Amino acid sequence: MQGKFITIEGCEGVGKSTQLALLKEYFENNGIDAIFTREPGGTDVAEKIRSIILDANNKALTPVTELLLYAAARRQHTEEKIIKALSEGKVVVCDRYADSTVAYQGYARNLDKQLIGELNRIAMADVNIDLTLFLDLPPELGFARKGGADKNDRLENEKLDFHKRVYEGYLAVAENNKDRVVRIDSSKDVDGVFAQIVDAMKKAGVV
Ligand code: TMP
Repeated sequence: MQGKFITIEGCEGVGKSTQLALLKEYFENNGIDAIFTREPGGTDVAEKIRSIILDANNKALTPVTELLLYAAARRQHTEEKIIKALSEGKVVVCDRYADSTVAYQGYARNLDKQLIGELNRIAMADVNIDLTLFLDLPPELGFARKGGADKNDRLENEKLDFHKRVYEGYLAVAENNKDRVVRIDSSKDVDGVFAQIVDAMKKAGVV
């Protein structure tokens, strides 16, 4: 029995947390056995790596080190938690996953995309993503919604240009992976966004 793996992606402030809360309720109401997890993080070890990556005091962290830390956290999380849950037939919903590395480290930090592809391949440990929900909202609107960047978060504190490149990265990921990435128009109200998510899950056969 193999479960389904759903990832949720997008720029800062696109409303992922709100939609994840609705999704949790939806699975509960429909008796679907699901776990919710996040990257970087999701297990004790990977959460420790997360705190190193996001700590705004870690100004010395170089871009390649950052990339390797995301990859390390992902491999740990995938092996320890995701594969296990999928093998138990659960739906696994992950707040950010491999596409975040392509968008943030590939497009925004401008690191070698082939290297990122290879690291993602290793970090994913042969796991297959069944559906990626790309919450599409340009970063200007996302930051306006959340009332600015979190000063304690190293990544959020990057300049707007950085986040615009992240957005471009996501558009490219969506274009290049039409079989699994569904663009969700996140300029709509909360219910309007959630309706698109349910529709995408049904079409992809994950619920
Ligand atoms: P978040 O969980 O609050 O979204 O914070 C995670 C931050 O890390 C966010 O700014 C996106 C960034 N990130 C990457 O740069 N690369 C990655 O591979 C992942 C998973 C997240």
